[in-house]
Amino acid sequence: MNVLVLGSGGREHAISWKLAQSPKLSKLYVAPGNAGTTELAENLNIDVNDFNEIKKAVLANNINLVIVGPEDPLVNGVVDFFLKDEEIKNIPIIGPQAEAAQLEGSKEYSKRFMQRNNVPTAGYESFTKETLEKGLNYLETQNPPYVLKADGLAAGKGVVILNDLTAAKKELKAMLADAKFGDASRKVVIEEFMSGIELSVFVITDGKDYVILPEAKDYKRIGEGDTGLNTGGMGAISPVPFADDNFMKRVEEEVVIPTIDGFKKENLPYKGFVFIGLMNDDGNPRVVEYNVRMGDPETEVVMPRLKTDLLEIMQAVADEKLRDIEVEFEDKSATTVIMVSGGYPEAYEKGHEISGLDKTEGSIIFHAGTKEDNGKVFTNGGRVIAVTSYGKDFNEALKQSYKNTEIIDWEEKYFRSDLGFDLQKYLN
Ligand code: AMP
Ligand code: GLY
Repeated sequence: MNVLVLGSGGREHAISWKLAQSPKLSKLYVAPGNAGTTELAENLNIDVNDFNEIKKAVLANNINLVIVGPEDPLVNGVVDFFLKDEEIKNIPIIGPQAEAAQLEGSKEYSKRFMQRNNVPTAGYESFTKETLEKGLNYLETQNPPYVLKADGLAAGKGVVILNDLTAAKKELKAMLADAKFGDASRKVVIEEFMSGIELSVFVITDGKDYVILPEAKDYKRIGEGDTGLNTGGMGAISPVPFADDNFMKRVEEEVVIPTIDGFKKENLPYKGFVFIGLMNDDGNPRVVEYNVRMGDPETEVVMPRLKTDLLEIMQAVADEKLRDIEVEFEDKSATTVIMVSGGYPEAYEKGHEISGLDKTEGSIIFHAGTKEDNGKVFTNGGRVIAVTSYGKDFNEALKQSYKNTEIIDWEEKYFRSDLGFDLQKYLN
């Protein structure tokens, strides 16, 4: 089979790395890919939102299966585009159609879906510019911390959590009246604050059945001890020590099953990954958000823990035969440490040469924001490299990753050296 992966991050490199191990794979293409994916695949210089160019590439390269990495093309309807086009409608594409992609594309849509399907989540109300006064009054009736969410996609920046009522009112005005997040904050969801500890749960579904993939914990803040600005993710750990069998059973019964049943009941055909952001509040699972794709950096630990052939799983999803295959996982821990450009998530430089990539040992090096030029590899984004390792527990795995984050180097590299700090207490 010829397979095309859409995207260019560490997630797509990890998916490609796993696909490349499949005996069923003939040729792999990644659009647009990065310096890492060139080692496994042919990179195609196509924007993930340029559906016409994607179609041309699919036909020109006899692609038999497409896997969509990021959310943008899904929310923009890439799957619908395929289904409506006579020439490519029979080529399976893994990801939901635009309607179901609203689970990520609109916070309000996803809250309503959860309410209708009795999925545990925080209470909420939503407001627009026209109902700003009501929103301000509503804030007065709530307890701090105040959680304000831009309804639409805002590149991970649209959620603001504030302790002070005056600041929360100011923020609501900025979002609604001053379009702080552009179109994304035309509507704002004000949500009850949920306490607890977060984790990411991943599900693959063919629309009928589902498989729960290994869960992971990611580290979103730039600074040690979970301080400073939010990032795309500074590292991940899987399995998550506090996600024991009891908790995961509750997640399956109270969240996963109602979600998959909801897709069926509401006639939302869904073939793809569901990423459930969860709060573990004293053993009670509550949903923070849905994403309609895999997580990044979580994929860089989930794929290494998957024993079963990913291409076989993707084919089963396309054929609605997920029920017929057994999906197996490694018991070992996997961790990934994200190395970023100095300054990220604020302004940072690109184009620094990366050294040491060929000197690492005992880790899997996934590329995120990198670019190849004349055999050399350069930084090309905020998150640059993901260093993934295995271990009997996450401490052992992290130790291995940290050996290699010393070897890989460029001007002003940065990474968090405290991953797992919050999980030590859960180790036996
Ligand atoms: P989201 O984009 O919805 O995942 O929100 C980004 C981050 O904000 C989440 O990963 C949580 O850490 C935090 N967050 C979002 N909603 C809530 C909530 N209702 N209570 C507590 N924290 C939240
Ligand atoms: N790791 C969080 C995300 O992919 O959105």
